[in-house]
Amino acid sequence: MSSLAIDNVGLLITGEPSLGDGPLGELRDAAVIFEDGKVVAVERAGVEADGRVDAGGRCVMPGFVDSHTHLVFAGDRSEEFAARMAGKAYEAGGIRVTSEATRVASAADLERLAWERRAEGLRAGITHVEIKSGYGLDVDSEAKSCAVAAKLTDDVTFLGAHVVPAEFESDPDAYVDLVRGEMLAACAPRCRWIDAFCETGAFTAEQCRAVLEAGRAAGLGLRLHGNQLGPGEGVRLAVELEAASVDHCTYLADADVEALAGSRTVATFLPATDFSTRQPYPDARRVIDAGATVALATNTNPGSSNTTSMGFCIALAVRDMGMTVAEAVGAATRGGAAALRREDIGRLAPGCRADAIVLDAASPIDFVYRPGVPLVRETFVAGRTAWSAEG
Ligand code: NIG
Repeated sequence: MSSLAIDNVGLLITGEPSLGDGPLGELRDAAVIFEDGKVVAVERAGVEADGRVDAGGRCVMPGFVDSHTHLVFAGDRSEEFAARMAGKAYEAGGIRVTSEATRVASAADLERLAWERRAEGLRAGITHVEIKSGYGLDVDSEAKSCAVAAKLTDDVTFLGAHVVPAEFESDPDAYVDLVRGEMLAACAPRCRWIDAFCETGAFTAEQCRAVLEAGRAAGLGLRLHGNQLGPGEGVRLAVELEAASVDHCTYLADADVEALAGSRTVATFLPATDFSTRQPYPDARRVIDAGATVALATNTNPGSSNTTSMGFCIALAVRDMGMTVAEAVGAATRGGAAALRREDIGRLAPGCRADAIVLDAASPIDFVYRPGVPLVRETFVAGRTAWSAEG
C-alpha cells in the first residue's frame, strides 16, 4: 500500500480538537498522510511518504460535508427567481414546476445533470453529499430519482413528501398514504434516510409524522425540513422523533431552541436559501449558545438555492448569522457529518476517510474576506485527487 503526504501545510485544520489548537484542532507547518483512502497520521512538515503533494504553505482542511442537497432534478426556474428578486414571495408550490420536468426526463439525463452538479461541488471543495429525491412525486419518478442519487452517494434521502402533486390537490391525505406505502417500498432499498417538508403549503406536522414513522419502520433514518418560511411545529417534531437533523430552522421560538439544545438532532442551516428567498437569516448564535449541534449545507436545488458553494454559505453564516469563522467551518465539515450521523468524514483524523481540500489561501477566513472568489486549489476524496485547479 502506498502512502501520500500533503506536506508543507502552513495551516492544517484537522477538525479534531485533540490533535491541535482551538476548536478546529489547528496545526502550523504540518503534514497529513493518507494510505488506502484513509488518514493515517498528522505530523510536523517534512515527512517521508511514497508520494508527496507540496501545499506551498497554504491551508489544508477537511472537505465540506454537504448534508442537504436536491441534486437530482431537470428544468430551470430562473424566471421564478427573477420574479422573486422583483418582489414576488417564495412559495413551496414552485416545486411542482421542477417536478414536471423531472418526471419526463430519462434516468440517463437526470444522472448526467446530477454529475455535472456534483463536479461543480467538487470544484468548490464538497467531498461528500447527501442527495434527496422529491421532484418526481409519483412512484416511478421517485424510484428513478433515488436510483440516480445512489450512483453519486451512499447518503440518499427519500423525499416523496416534498409537496403534494397537482393530481392529489383535492386529497392530500391520499398522497400521504401513497408516500408511506407503495412509494416508500419502491424507494427504501436505495435510501438511508427519509425526509418530509413540514410547512404551510407543503405538509402538516401530523402528515410528516405519519411519513417519518413509516420510514423508520422501513429501516430508514429520519430528517425533516422545518421552520423555513414561518414558525411551526417542525423542529419540535424532529426532536421528538429523534431525527438526525432538522433543516432550515429560520424561524425558531424559544421552545424550539430549548428542544434542540437537549437533543441529538442537529440544527442544519441553509443560508443560501434565505438569501435566494429573501427570508431573514437564522440566528445561529442563539442556537449554538444554547448548546445545540449545528451544520451548514448548500441545499442545492433549482427553486430556493441554486448554488453548490459552501464557501458562500460560510460567508453568509459569519456575516449575517452570528457565527465565528471556526464555527462556520466546523458546521460545514464535522457538523455536516454529525447531521448524517457519520464519524468517518468531516475531520482529518487518523481512521477518517482521506477527504481534504487545499485552499489557495493561508486561512479559511478568506471564504468571508474574499467572498465569491474560488479558493479551492485541489480536492481529495478518499486519498485521490477528485479535482485540481492545475488540471
Ligand atoms: O429546501 N423546502 C423544501 N425544499 C427545497 C425547495 C425546493 C424548491 O423550491 O424547488 C428547500 O428549500
